[in-house]
Amino acid sequence: MQFDDVIRTTFAAREFTADPVPDDVLGEIFETARFAPSGGNRQGAHVIVVRDPESKARLAELSKPAARRYLAQRCAGENPWNPVHPTAVTEADLAETRGVDGFVAPIAVAPVVLVVTVDLAVVATTDSELDRVGIVGGASVYPLVWNILTAARSHGFGGTITTMISAEEEGVRELLGVPATHAVAAAIPLGRPVKQLTRLRRVPVADFVTRERFDGASFGADERSRG
Ligand SMILES: Cc1cc2nc3c(=O)[nH]c(=O)nc-3n(C[C@H](O)[C@H](O)[C@H](O)COP(=O)(O)O)c2cc1C
Repeated sequence: MQFDDVIRTTFAAREFTADPVPDDVLGEIFETARFAPSGGNRQGAHVIVVRDPESKARLAELSKPAARRYLAQRCAGENPWNPVHPTAVTEADLAETRGVDGFVAPIAVAPVVLVVTVDLAVVATTDSELDRVGIVGGASVYPLVWNILTAARSHGFGGTITTMISAEEEGVRELLGVPATHAVAAAIPLGRPVKQLTRLRRVPVADFVTRERFDGASFGADERSRG
């Protein structure tokens, strides 16, 4: 596949055929993905290939509390897990929330789940002293995550970045033996997608790129970037 086609069609795949994801294919995916950048080239990421059905089921289970809150907040018209706007969702709302099992199901049923962690003992987090949630640390692991997904796409496979599991990091640590300094960045259910989306809904360039200043002129209201 052409690079442009890969980037434009790597969607969040959540339904998979029964096809396996063989080790040799995974090996090729990792072989490409490993060229991701990280702060200071410290390469603190680690990927755990989880095929054991019990482990996958447990990872799905561990994802449920965060998924429940995500769905409850969405139902309440909130922006789920938002670091700026606190939630008004109550325990009663959470108890009434439906759809949690389906939301985490891809983790339980995918042929393989990749759990990606990053060693906080080596990442550089230049925003760690600001009075807001940290974001820079993630930049030393999510390029690798995205490389995995795009490399998988070019091999005809697909998956989703899921992060509900991160809220239950201790449980993942216990289940998979993740060291104390590693943060759990994502669980990626991976398989052969039942359907391939080819037209992703994304805002056009002119809506989020400006010249010189945040409030500067929109960059290129170019028709090619629409759709
Ligand atoms: C940081 C991040 C966290 C995400 N967490 C989840 C998740 O926990 N569960 C899930 O089903 N999808 C998750 N997604 C997938 C997004 O919902 C998906 O990328 C987005 O809706 C675009 O979907 P599309 O590429 O199919 O258009 C996550 C994506 C990102 C980038």
